[in-house]
Amino acid sequence: MSPSNRQKEHWGSRIGVVIAVAGGAVGLGNFLRFPGQVVNYGGGAFMIPYLLSFLFIAIPLASSEWALGRCGGRLGYHSPFGIYYAVSNKSRFWGICGGLTGLTPLVISMYYIFVEAWCLLYALQYLGGLMQIYGLGFSLLNEVKPGLQLSSEEYGALFESFTGMTGDGSLFKNAVSPLAIVTLVCAAANFYLIYRGVSKGIERFSKIVAPLVLLCSLIVIARILTLGNPTGTPGQSLIDGLGFMWNPTREVVTESGDVVRTSVLDSLSNPEVWLAATAQLFFTVSICLGATCSYASYVKPNEDIALSSVTATAANEFCEVVLGGLMAIPPAVMFLGIQSADKFGSTFSLGFVALPNVFGQMPAGQFFGFLFFTLLFCAAITSSMSIIQPTLALFQDSLRLSRTVGVLLVCLVVLSGTAFVCWFTKDLAALDAFDFWLANFAPFLGGILQTILIVYVWKLSNLQKEWDGGAIVKLPRFVGPILKYVSLPYLVLIFAFWCYKNLKGRIADVANNDVAQHSLVFIAVLAFGLLALSWFVIERWRKEERQK
Ligand code: PHE
Repeated sequence: MSPSNRQKEHWGSRIGVVIAVAGGAVGLGNFLRFPGQVVNYGGGAFMIPYLLSFLFIAIPLASSEWALGRCGGRLGYHSPFGIYYAVSNKSRFWGICGGLTGLTPLVISMYYIFVEAWCLLYALQYLGGLMQIYGLGFSLLNEVKPGLQLSSEEYGALFESFTGMTGDGSLFKNAVSPLAIVTLVCAAANFYLIYRGVSKGIERFSKIVAPLVLLCSLIVIARILTLGNPTGTPGQSLIDGLGFMWNPTREVVTESGDVVRTSVLDSLSNPEVWLAATAQLFFTVSICLGATCSYASYVKPNEDIALSSVTATAANEFCEVVLGGLMAIPPAVMFLGIQSADKFGSTFSLGFVALPNVFGQMPAGQFFGFLFFTLLFCAAITSSMSIIQPTLALFQDSLRLSRTVGVLLVCLVVLSGTAFVCWFTKDLAALDAFDFWLANFAPFLGGILQTILIVYVWKLSNLQKEWDGGAIVKLPRFVGPILKYVSLPYLVLIFAFWCYKNLKGRIADVANNDVAQHSLVFIAVLAFGLLALSWFVIERWRKEERQK
């Protein structure tokens, strides 16, 4: 069966595509990763490279990926593997690059499902607290009783024991932890929805869940905006919270006790900040990670992509900067103070330690905590589907599998990685290694390759033609050249600058951490598997072609 003879699958409606793509893009990246990165990389100083990357990377790359995807879909392919091969005039090199691109969504899906399960369990925990009012309260975590007020340290300790950060294998010691079970439930929900297909599963589900996410976030934000200065402490108002996020400089206390103002130039001369800001955009807009390309390949041949891509990207940015920005950082500053906001070491402590602490102090906090984690879970599940779909498409494109066999195979591979992350939970070392190498580092390589493919192999003229086909509003002519003259050099420059200054340090970190090494070996095995798969499949396709 040649790919073009396979039964064609399409999205149900134009609005459905936009909702599904935006639903895929809006996820934990918007509500957890973004505020966490802002805090880690200096507030407003992070926002400068972030906004530049939005203009010069996110918009042109997202719209060109939509074009690439729709063109690939028309040729009968739905994964970067098949699409790169098809648009490069059947080049073996580009086919293999496309196959390797499959590594990013595959590895991200492995830990994303795990974090999704944290959100569901936290939401259920808050539900138990809420139901206490009716005498029906329950607790899924042995350590906490519903409605209990904890100290900051206790919230931290609870999160550590809940995620198994205390030691490898601790989620499976004595008895299987509720988290391991909920992780399995989340995985099963994802595989079921994907099995239902793009329009009956992903699109229908996203149409129900997306409004729910929006509604819950608006309610939580309305609460935050009306809190004023809840503790009455100077420097802990809403404006201070916003200032923490948007001021490019801030006052910090040095070791000798002096108060000094940070310098914007110091932050901007650190390549780590640029890498993190650009990678955050790759992650949140889901570009060069296989997802957008794969979703766009199910758009009907003559349906608009220009306006749809800009709409989906803009919706994602609104959810990230406005909603995500308002929901996490300002309340943390309002209740806990700027000093402690500065101390949130990891992306996760802001969402899973600081915010529960905030909800604990807020009037009706159980209710708002429940809404917050429910919206996180809902946003996460539509995203995890979009992360898993490219792997299914890869197996279907290359092995011509039926949907059932394809989903079973994806399930096997993804769960093996999720099990790995669930086992090596000490300090979340495996999760962090997967996240850094696949969500920060690899998208740069993928982004550079994809842009070269579009600009120099597929050619800007084809890109423009693809954008114009079925366009409701045409994209301006300068978007293509921006890709060539701005986006590509910008990506190469940041990546080279980062490699020059920081790669050695990162490699030394890996050398000092056993679990990080195991994680890289695991990733290398997967990469080798994808390489072998793409190689053999391309050889087979070429042979079939010659025999025709
Ligand atoms: N964009 C999603 C988020 O913000 C994550 C994602 C990554 C989706 C990779 C698809 C591919 O959470």
